[in-house]
Amino acid sequence: MATEQSVPWWTAAAIYQVYLRSFADGNGDGIGDLAGCRAHLAYLAELGIDAIWFNPFYLSPMADGGYDVADYRQIDPQFGSISDAEALITEAHALGIRVVLDIVPNHCSDRHPWFVAALPSKPGSPERRRFYFRPGRGPAGELPPNDWQSEFGGSAWTRTTGPDGLPAEWYLHLFAPEQPDFNWGDPAVRAEFEAVLRFWFDRGVDGFRVDSAALVAKDPGLSDIGETPASYGPGMHPFVDRDEVHEIYRSWRHIADGYPDKRALIGEVWLPDQERFALYLRDDEFHSAFNFDFLCCALEAPALRRVIDDTLASHARFAATTTWVLSNHDVVRHVTRYGRGKTAFKMDDRRIGEASDIELGTRRARAATLLSLSLPGTAYIYQGDELGLWEVEDLPEELLQDPFWERSGKTDRGRDGCRVPMPWAGQAPPFGFTDNGATPWLPQPQDWKALTVETELLNPASMLALYQSALAIRRREPSLRSRTFAWEDAPDGVLCYSRGDNVVVLVNLSPEPVALPEHDKILIASGQLWGRVPPVTAVWLRRK
Ligand code: GLC
Ligand code: CA
Repeated sequence: MATEQSVPWWTAAAIYQVYLRSFADGNGDGIGDLAGCRAHLAYLAELGIDAIWFNPFYLSPMADGGYDVADYRQIDPQFGSISDAEALITEAHALGIRVVLDIVPNHCSDRHPWFVAALPSKPGSPERRRFYFRPGRGPAGELPPNDWQSEFGGSAWTRTTGPDGLPAEWYLHLFAPEQPDFNWGDPAVRAEFEAVLRFWFDRGVDGFRVDSAALVAKDPGLSDIGETPASYGPGMHPFVDRDEVHEIYRSWRHIADGYPDKRALIGEVWLPDQERFALYLRDDEFHSAFNFDFLCCALEAPALRRVIDDTLASHARFAATTTWVLSNHDVVRHVTRYGRGKTAFKMDDRRIGEASDIELGTRRARAATLLSLSLPGTAYIYQGDELGLWEVEDLPEELLQDPFWERSGKTDRGRDGCRVPMPWAGQAPPFGFTDNGATPWLPQPQDWKALTVETELLNPASMLALYQSALAIRRREPSLRSRTFAWEDAPDGVLCYSRGDNVVVLVNLSPEPVALPEHDKILIASGQLWGRVPPVTAVWLRRK
């Protein structure tokens, strides 16, 4: 049996996601940065998290919030310098907090030196082979090389201009035109990313979150998707989840394993098929991957039970670490989602924008928090979850920055609403996020004055108090850090399970109050109990 010491750090970790632009501004320009984050590390230590995952903070023109990287070894000057990053890693480690970076292998920025060099190079040149350049279709090459669509809307191809000023080859970008896709068939691309991993591992980074991990390999023939994309057999789609990706991540795992202390690889793998998803978690690939089925699941007992069972089963195959995610920088904040009639989430919901009852959403979010923090494995917390922040759905159109907005023909407001800067203190915006009279890069709602860190720290009934207590209990109770999980009998609409030897969790999602299961001590509850567990309430209990 594995002892506490030999268990890798991530197996029961709470990982806090920092979206740096919106966390804390250290130099008074309205944009969050490394200095601001360093100044708030003590806050994170007190919150009780084990690691921070940073969204990309590399040199970037910010066409997609930093997911358009111009240099994987440099920090964007907006965020600070390499020495700030090194200092942050050291300081975080001193507080017992690990640091996970985001690596973006599918694409770079159109300002990346390789792409800048590829543009004036000849068709078929080594410079162009690092990307996907192709002639267009149609008599004058005026049509894109194939029918692939960008994730942000529109064609996945953009036409270049030749040295003579005439339209020339097209290049592929599964995301924005400012994000050209790398050609992973080119050995130079592989070698470069392996060197980048080492560069950061050598600086003490404890792991990587791998962006768009299932997209990097493409059908070399770049065949059309056609009318019926759903009919592809496993691994046969021209760019989603192709079998070739696995070999890439095996080589990354080999690099991670070459370091004496444990370095984690965590995949961003959005796939409907659990069997295919699990293949990324084989012994020699990722250590874990984000659980988007859990994130997207309706807050209803039967659906959650199914997702939990499926997750445990698919991960058991390779003894991989399960993860539980409620929100991130790409989705509508869960307080807002759960305040709606339909609590299941689809990306398209942003377009529909059904009204949300924030008070109900908050109560549900509290229960969901005790659910997600009590399941076996890694729990992710997106910055602001711990304050109960909601999605800001009324940002002025002229301030929207997410490429979804323009590329959807202004029908999808995109992801800016979950990226609004954190409220730290005070009665009015910028709520201590920035000083010197600077304006935050996105405006905060005045109503967030009730949700600042300062206010919530004083209130034992706040969301922040719930997170702090739950995380402390999770650290203290070995049962909550164990892998042991078993369902217990419960009425319809109620989830009840035991954890380890002596913890029981009950989540009442039914319309009726339910009796407390037998227990010795109530560890924590998401709301008032009144001797029974009211609807929309979760409780952790300890047995003798
Ligand atoms: C991932 C990121 C998202 C980004 C996209 C392109 O899905 O989470 O924010 O826009 O990849 O890099
Ligand atoms: Ca700043």
